[in-house]
Amino acid sequence: MSMKTDNTMPVNKKTTIQRSFLDWIGSFGSEDIGVDLGTSNIVVYVKNKGLVFPEASIVAVKESTGEVMAYGLKAAEMEGRTPAGIKIVYPVHAGAIVDYHSAAYLLNSIINQSYLKGMFFHPRLLMCAPIGISHVQKRALLEAAVAIGARKTVLIEQPLAAVMGLGVKTKDREGTFIIDAGGGATKMSIVSRHGVVSSDYSLQSGGFMDEAIINMVMEKYHVHIGRNAAEMLKIALGAMWDVDHNAQVCEVCGISAVSGLPTKIVVTGENVARALNPILYQIFSKVIAVMQTTPPAILEDIRRTGVMLIGGVAQLKGFSELLGQVIDMPIHVADHPAYVNAVGAGSALEYMDYFRDSLQDLH
Ligand SMILES: Nc1ncnc2c1ncn2[C@@H]1O[C@H](COP(=O)(O)OP(=O)(O)OP(=O)(O)O)[C@@H](O)[C@H]1O
Ligand SMILES: [Mg+2]
Repeated sequence: MSMKTDNTMPVNKKTTIQRSFLDWIGSFGSEDIGVDLGTSNIVVYVKNKGLVFPEASIVAVKESTGEVMAYGLKAAEMEGRTPAGIKIVYPVHAGAIVDYHSAAYLLNSIINQSYLKGMFFHPRLLMCAPIGISHVQKRALLEAAVAIGARKTVLIEQPLAAVMGLGVKTKDREGTFIIDAGGGATKMSIVSRHGVVSSDYSLQSGGFMDEAIINMVMEKYHVHIGRNAAEMLKIALGAMWDVDHNAQVCEVCGISAVSGLPTKIVVTGENVARALNPILYQIFSKVIAVMQTTPPAILEDIRRTGVMLIGGVAQLKGFSELLGQVIDMPIHVADHPAYVNAVGAGSALEYMDYFRDSLQDLH
C-alpha cells in the first residue's frame, strides 16, 4: 500500500503542477462549458455567452476508414438516404455513450464550430450525467471530455442540473418532481434540498414513439416511412386525439410496400395517438411507481406544487394533459424544455472552482 503511494507520488505532483499551469494559461482565453449530451441532441452552454445552437447527436461515418463525413443536423438529414459505404451512428443511447469515438468527435466539433473557434484553450467542462449510469458509462463521458483536451471535467447529476435550469428554490420546498422525457429515455426524479430522493427511468421515449409510428404506418397504410417522417407525424399529431377526439390529419411521404414506389399518404391523429398510447401508459406507470416510493411529507408538497415536465417530448401534444389526468396533479411544461439541463449546467459553472474533478473520483 505504502509502496504504491510512494511510487505514484511524483506522478501526482507533476499532474498537480501541470493542472495549475494549464489553469494559468487557460485563464487568458478559455471558457467554462456546460454540456448535456443526450440521445437525440447535444446542447452546450458557454459561460458568459449562453446556449450554443443544439445539434443532433448523430454522425455519418465512412465504413471502410471510420472517417466522419458529417455530424449533427447534416448527418440527421442523410438518414435514410446514405450512399453505400456510409453508416449513421448514434453515439449516445438512453443517455449513455455507446460509441466513444463518435461522441468525442461530436463534442469536439460542436465546441470548435466556426463561430466558437479559437475561443477555447483546454476548457473546463461540466457535463450532465443521467442518474444511475454505471462506472463504465461515467468513464466514457469523462474520456470524451479528455479527448477534446478539457483540463477539468465535472459530472453533475441531471436532475440537479434540471433544478438549477428551472430556477427552482429547493429550500422553499420539501421536494420537486422532475420528469425529463427525452429521445432515449424518460427519467423521473424527486429532488429535495438534500439531493435526489427517488428516481427511475423508462426506455419508453421519443425514439420509441417514432418506431411505434413507423410500425403503425406499415401495418395500417402498407407504407414504409423513415424516422424523420415518423418524428414529423409525432410532432404534428401527438396524442391529442386521446384528449379531445378531434379529427386531425397529416400528409407524409413513404415507399409503398405493395408497389415499391414513393407514395403520399394521409395519416390520422387517431392512428398516431393509438400507436403512442401504450408507450405513454408505460411511462405513466413508472411515474406512479416513483411516487409510491416517495416519503409522504415530500409527496404531499409535490401534490401541491405539481410536476415539472422537461425534455423534448414534454412538447408532445396531449402528453401533459393525459399525465395530469392519470396522476391527478398539476403539470408544468418548462419553457424550452429540451434545453433545461444545459441551462442548469450553465448555471452550475459558477461553482466550477469548488467542484472536484470527476476523473479523480473514478480512480
Ligand atoms: N414538439 C414536439 N413534440 C413531440 N416530441 C418532440 C417535440 N420536439 C422534440 N420532440 C422529441 O423530443 C426528443 C428529443 O428530446 P431531448 O432533446 O430532450 O432528448 P435528449 O436529451 O437528446 O435524449 P435523452 O435525454 O433521452 O438522452 C426527440 O424524440 C424529439 O422527436
Ligand atoms: Mg436529455
